[in-house]
Amino acid sequence: MKPYYLTTAIDYANGFPHLGHAYEKILADVISRTKKVMGQSSHFVTGLDEHGQKVQQGAEREGVKPQVRCDRIANEFKKMLVSLGIANDDYIRTTESRHKKVVESLLQDLFERGEIYQAEYNGFYSMRAEQFLQEKDKVDGVWPEIFGEVTEITEKNYFFKLGKYQEWLLQFLKGNKNFILPAHRQSQVIEFLKEPLNDLCISRPKERLSWGIPLPFDQEYVTYVWFDALVNYVTAAGYGGKEFTILWPADLHVIGKDILAPPHAIYWPIMLEACNIELPKKILVHGWWTSSGEKMSKSTGESINPLELINDYGADAFRFFVMREMKVGQDAEFSIERFDSRYRADLGNDLGNLVSRLLHMCANYFGSVVPENHEPEKPELELQKKWKSTQKISKAFFEEFQFSLGLEQVSGFIRAINKYADNRVPWKLAKSAEEADHKNLQTCLSNMVEALRLANSLLVAVMPEIHAKINERLGLTACKSWQHDLIWDHRLNGKTIKEKIILFPRK
Ligand code: MSP
Repeated sequence: MKPYYLTTAIDYANGFPHLGHAYEKILADVISRTKKVMGQSSHFVTGLDEHGQKVQQGAEREGVKPQVRCDRIANEFKKMLVSLGIANDDYIRTTESRHKKVVESLLQDLFERGEIYQAEYNGFYSMRAEQFLQEKDKVDGVWPEIFGEVTEITEKNYFFKLGKYQEWLLQFLKGNKNFILPAHRQSQVIEFLKEPLNDLCISRPKERLSWGIPLPFDQEYVTYVWFDALVNYVTAAGYGGKEFTILWPADLHVIGKDILAPPHAIYWPIMLEACNIELPKKILVHGWWTSSGEKMSKSTGESINPLELINDYGADAFRFFVMREMKVGQDAEFSIERFDSRYRADLGNDLGNLVSRLLHMCANYFGSVVPENHEPEKPELELQKKWKSTQKISKAFFEEFQFSLGLEQVSGFIRAINKYADNRVPWKLAKSAEEADHKNLQTCLSNMVEALRLANSLLVAVMPEIHAKINERLGLTACKSWQHDLIWDHRLNGKTIKEKIILFPRK
């Protein structure tokens, strides 16, 4: 089977990493790990978008060369990936020579085939957005604040024949209903395509912007940043080499809603079509983390930087929180109170308590040897039934990238294990001298251990470290295959497990 090739947006090298960047990488990491545990190898790429005016200006302000600033920022972003437990297979930077070569070769090819032409442009330009504007971009007759200073300019530039592909793209989207997820995003793009598409200006004169990849056919110009950035997806797949035939097409691009249309839903498919390269299979569009309803960014003045929570609570609690809290596709409001409540309830009370009290009872009553499972009665049969539905439903949600709903199922099952214990009251059974009570105690702990092992298997992609810690207590290595590990078979009976641990200390 082809490796599952998935990518994230490459972050702008013009600031520090924040929750928005972190969330997207965690989401992609969880998808990558889920694919693996479901039996498909995966190739997961993320990276940094290093060219453009803001990077150049940032470096000027600092009095350093743009590359020096980019190197420093790349280190910050890479540090963030490590702190989040992200297992990416590659990290692509757009200033790498492997990338420049691919951008140049695609541009040259398009130019030779007449898909790129030179023309004089007269109109409005926003320095802040690094973008040409049209009258229709005005709101109530004025340029919106986001464009900063807008000036009228006349200059020669190179244009890519985007417009001629409009009908093709529309037909493609109509024929490939699940190209963009969630579905309402695809409808928005189709709506967007009802307006005529202009050709895309793909160059900037060097005197205005020098920090970019020079056009191979005219060294007086550099490449417009989107035409450079989007190409990273084929560069990282080894465009031009044998690897490319194995990895491409990408199975999934994970991006935020702000960069869907036009860049990923319009420019990118058309660029690929014009270059005779197959289109990616799917684009998954997530929403924004907000603070008081506003998109969070490096400049939002939160009282606490959410990424600092990782130092205090660990990467996995943070990963669990963002995956549980945000329904993929919708926005989610960040607050410390929400984080705190998930940490205390879902993680501390439900999972943490289950692990510590179960291991403690096994140690106390059976010297940490998992006891025998006798004839199951109603409570055991109910717990098993709950497991059957949990694994089926949560796996289906995970496959559709609905991790919040999948985790809700897993948490529900963990609570069911705790409830089972509260019904069976093993701590009371342990005090009884009756033979029947002793057997029930054995059955109870045997079932709880099995249920914990199974629930924990479903957490491997979201909380890899916590998962491994729990499995280590159970004498197991980390789960590698759901096909193998989601079967209720009491495989630990008679095995020696370990003493309790505190997984989520109270803060
Ligand atoms: N460099 C471009 C992407 C080029 S991809 C070929 C870019 N960079 S970015 O740093 O601004 O954003 C990177 C990703 O982070 C985007 O997918 C963006 O949507 C996401 N987020 C940035 N802030 C966000 C939130 N507040 N919430 C969730 N994700 C958001 O765009």
